[in-house]
Amino acid sequence: MGYKGWPGDKRDSGVRLGSGLMDVLIHLFVGLHIIGIAALLGGFFTQMKAMGQGTARFVPAMLHGALTMLVTGVVLVGLNQADDHPVNNIKIGVKLALLIVILGLVYVKRDDEKVDKGLFGLVGLLTTANIFIAVLWT
Ligand code: HEM
Repeated sequence: MGYKGWPGDKRDSGVRLGSGLMDVLIHLFVGLHIIGIAALLGGFFTQMKAMGQGTARFVPAMLHGALTMLVTGVVLVGLNQADDHPVNNIKIGVKLALLIVILGLVYVKRDDEKVDKGLFGLVGLLTTANIFIAVLWT
């Protein structure tokens, strides 16, 4: 229901902010999704100097960030579908595939004190690729 003013009142045009409970829930999970990116990419950045020397390690924040991305991403797909928002399945599939590689590498090597430069860099590269896939693929 729009605002009912005098006949012809432009405020009755039906344009309004999406503030239903479902929209709030979706935005809340987008926020958590972004916190996940912060942990994963932030953890990577703390190791960049060490990466140059070949002594970088996958810090716990990276593992927890990658897990957060998976959980919040899956919840976001479900919430958007439940709310009849179209979900780009190919885009999500590509993001999921890249994240599985990231999560696999970080999980398997989580206790290694040193990770090969190339492997470590790959995780940063794939994370960055996922960010640009998320924002540029419309
Ligand atoms: C490193 C991994 C990931 C990164 C960096 C990432 C990044 C982002 C960013 C920046 C956004 C907000 C921009 C937007 O709305 O398009 C977003 C939204 C979203 N992501 Fe991810 N994501 C990742 C993994 C995933 C995974 C694995 C899934 C699903 C299984 C997923 C599902 C979604 C969904 C459904 C949205 C909301 C799209 C919308 O509301 O239009 N993401 N992601």
